[in-house]
Amino acid sequence: MIKTIEWTEAGVVMIDQRSLPSDELYHVCRTHEEVAEAIRTMVIRGAPAIGVAAAMGIALGVQNLATAPPADMDLAFDLICRTLATTRPTAVNLFWAIDRMKRVFQRQRSKSIHEVAQLLRAEALAICQEDIAANRQMGAHGQILIPDGAHVLTHCNAGALATAGYGTALGVLRAAVSAGKRLLVYVDETRPFLQGARLTAWELMKDNIPVRLITDNMAGHFMKKGEIDHVIVGADRIAANGDVANKIGTYMVAVLAQAHRLPFYVAAPISTVDLSISNGDQIPIEERQPAEVTDFRGVRVAPYNVAVANPAFDVTPAAYIHAIITEQGIAWPPFEKSLPVLAGAAGGQLTKGGRHN
Ligand code: MRU
Repeated sequence: MIKTIEWTEAGVVMIDQRSLPSDELYHVCRTHEEVAEAIRTMVIRGAPAIGVAAAMGIALGVQNLATAPPADMDLAFDLICRTLATTRPTAVNLFWAIDRMKRVFQRQRSKSIHEVAQLLRAEALAICQEDIAANRQMGAHGQILIPDGAHVLTHCNAGALATAGYGTALGVLRAAVSAGKRLLVYVDETRPFLQGARLTAWELMKDNIPVRLITDNMAGHFMKKGEIDHVIVGADRIAANGDVANKIGTYMVAVLAQAHRLPFYVAAPISTVDLSISNGDQIPIEERQPAEVTDFRGVRVAPYNVAVANPAFDVTPAAYIHAIITEQGIAWPPFEKSLPVLAGAAGGQLTKGGRHN
């Protein structure tokens, strides 16, 4: 399995997703500031993966404090958490993971700094392991929805690279293949950052899962011809009513799927569900650098001084979504009823309120 992120003696090691698929490089972060920078610059990306990275970043930050303990430990911890919380605004897993680390710190802060650092590291490793287990559970639940011979479209990368391992949407497809089903996966290239072309195609090819790479504007054509029959995507934040924020372009795919009467599934862990917000209008949407749109791998392709919009995510209304696959089972509409039940089954994992950037 691809190792997206790992805690090592040298620091937090991540596969550098900016250079894939041409180069398989590993990026070592020795401070929490370096982890924050790695999240901001997309060395690591994908909602669950950035949650794991933030948790490891906090553990690293406190470990580094142990060599010269600060006079005000609470303040120092708070600063570390803030540095990680201000990296990317949309994926709620980031804030969920930071909240989990804060709870450990608050419970253990009377202990020595060395012990606190060890406990925080253990929590970060637990978040990482639990994410892989959740993805496998999601796969087991979700593969039932994917029939043998399905031609499934996915958008962006919701695979091993976007998580601690195995993936959410791609985890469901991996589980379907493991169950003996023959699939063809249509992969949207996912402009402007090309997570589909660079990462999803690479991941699936490594697993020998048949792939057909298309540009984003081809999806409708292949649906109309009957060559795509299912859609599955991941999520960055799911509101209490089932509205889903995911990579820009997801909404367009959902509208197309509805026009062609195709099932549109979302796969995400319960840590992506934000019951503190009632609908998707309240989800903060990250705006990224214009250069991602005007340039292609450093080469300018648009006129200088052109006005640019670059929202990294969009919100798909719940009405377009047939089911949300989680590690606790499948949520069916109405999601405002089914999601709280599954979130409740996940136990104390959800914090209500205060999870916005
Ligand atoms: O900007 P990115 O690459 O972090 O966006 C990632 C996505 O939108 C994924 O689809 C989402 O995080 C789900 S990952 C399991």
